[in-house]
Amino acid sequence: MASNTRERAGKSKDIIREDGKTFFEFTDRVTAFDGLKEDEYLHKGEVCCRMSVYWFEIMGQEGIPTHFRSFVPPNRIEVTYLEIIPIEVICRNYVAGSLLQRYGRGEEPGAGIEPRLGARIPDGIIEFTTKFEERDRPIGEEEILGNGWLTREELDQIREYTRRVNEIMSGHLLEKGIILADFKIEFGKNASGEILLADEVGTPDGCRFWIRDSYDAGRIESLDKDVYRYDEGDVSDAYSRIQKRICG
Ligand code: TMP
Ligand code: ASP
Repeated sequence: MASNTRERAGKSKDIIREDGKTFFEFTDRVTAFDGLKEDEYLHKGEVCCRMSVYWFEIMGQEGIPTHFRSFVPPNRIEVTYLEIIPIEVICRNYVAGSLLQRYGRGEEPGAGIEPRLGARIPDGIIEFTTKFEERDRPIGEEEILGNGWLTREELDQIREYTRRVNEIMSGHLLEKGIILADFKIEFGKNASGEILLADEVGTPDGCRFWIRDSYDAGRIESLDKDVYRYDEGDVSDAYSRIQKRICG
């Protein structure tokens, strides 16, 4: 009856339908720059899976609904089947990555933001990008609403959940000596139309984690995918260090 299928869910995960259940499998694949760079690192999938489980459980306890159902060790989670909302939500506390590049191309920084790597963004910013285009591009609220992807209320709900995810993660991380510079999350809708936190959360693939002591000494030391993006060292080592630091 029910056929078992496996397909790609994004560049580093597979989505598996098995006997009416849905699973995300975190693979060892890693890509950057819209797939321009592609490799595999041993245990990378397991690290991102275990870290997502860690954060999904915390988000659930904090009252943020998520698609997470259960952990299937070492690198799978069972999830609620959702209709994925076709945007990526990016929350930034510090200037880095594509935001810094945009400033370099002449974009005007918002009030109180210094256009340099590592500058703190006083109240943080939440931005959106497309998800299913060949190259993800920044997208404004008008286009999201105009495309009928979300209603005003849903967009406000997503902003509020994102703000809380930021607050929760930033607080936990600071206690562990880590600065959450920025992160990306995704949302979906369940069969009743409720919005749930989807995909993965709080992993080095989807966050920028900076060591606080180094930052305070004037140096940015990343324990995240920037190590891979910019060839800054041993990727597997950076991923297992951040996992130990956060999850123990
Ligand atoms: P960015 O500075 O490249 O726009 O990235 C902001 C944050 O979002 C950073 O923590 C990496 C994460 N991110 C993803 O997880 N997936 C993506 O496709 C992109 C572009 C960014
Ligand atoms: N995840 C995206 C890619 O694989 C972009 C990135 O994280 O740099 O290309």
